[in-house]
Amino acid sequence: MKFMKSKFELQSFDVLPRHVGVIMDGNGRWAKQRGLERSEGHKEGANVFRTICEYACDLGIECITFYAFSTENWARPELEIKGIMSLLRSYLLEALDRKKENEEKGMRIKFIGDVSRIDKELQKMIKIIEKQSAKKTRTVVNIAVNYGGKQELVKSFREIAEDIEKGRLSSADVTPELIESRLYTPDFPACDLIIRPSGEYRLSNFLTWQSAYSEFWFSDILWPDFTIDNFNEALRAYEQRNRRFGGI
Ligand code: IPE
Ligand code: IPE
Ligand code: MG
Repeated sequence: MKFMKSKFELQSFDVLPRHVGVIMDGNGRWAKQRGLERSEGHKEGANVFRTICEYACDLGIECITFYAFSTENWARPELEIKGIMSLLRSYLLEALDRKKENEEKGMRIKFIGDVSRIDKELQKMIKIIEKQSAKKTRTVVNIAVNYGGKQELVKSFREIAEDIEKGRLSSADVTPELIESRLYTPDFPACDLIIRPSGEYRLSNFLTWQSAYSEFWFSDILWPDFTIDNFNEALRAYEQRNRRFGGI
């Protein structure tokens, strides 16, 4: 595959993951290292998100999911949560504003997680953005907000249990495909590659079901320092992986 040159030097890959998951971690430590407030780390992290998002679209990656706020992140001080939500608001305003550019890029923007817990105004903006980009098919940018992999499974199981209670389904109908169809990601491929910077080697409740056969790429780089070169490095590593899915 050869790619057109754009603002970034686009590399060419023999094989690209269809779905990449990115755990944007290390903002707080990045700020601390510089004697700054944690909020400054989140701000810089949001800029890196924009860069990687754009590059992934230019590469034509089918789907990329960014972990922005977990169900566990409510445990943080209120002020920090407010700061993160205000960065989300800025991004949403920008996405509304960039409707045309995003359309031209073929970018579909979607949110996964229980957004009913966030500010009503943000929820409205999310709905508009999802609707206005719904028909775009080049790259889906999924943003995980108030997302938890376990909670997502509970949502799926509850919906199925309700259908069984109402007689619309029987227990024999419960299959991996049925469970998948009730997740936040029914129309996306399973996650092929998960990128986690910041030196942590865990999933932190990210894409629990979708990561069953994911490849992992870990790095000590803190998210605000993460670059397109690092992203390419992860994609190169993925290119070399031998995925057997239980076969030989
Ligand atoms: C990731 O960076 C951002 C969110 C979880 C919202 P952190 O804020 O977790 O940064 P560290 O891990 O404390 O460095
Ligand atoms: C994971 O990072 C969540 C996001 C990046 C949004 P955390 O910083 O919350 O994860 P833990 O607490 O180190 O596992
Ligand atoms: Mg963290």
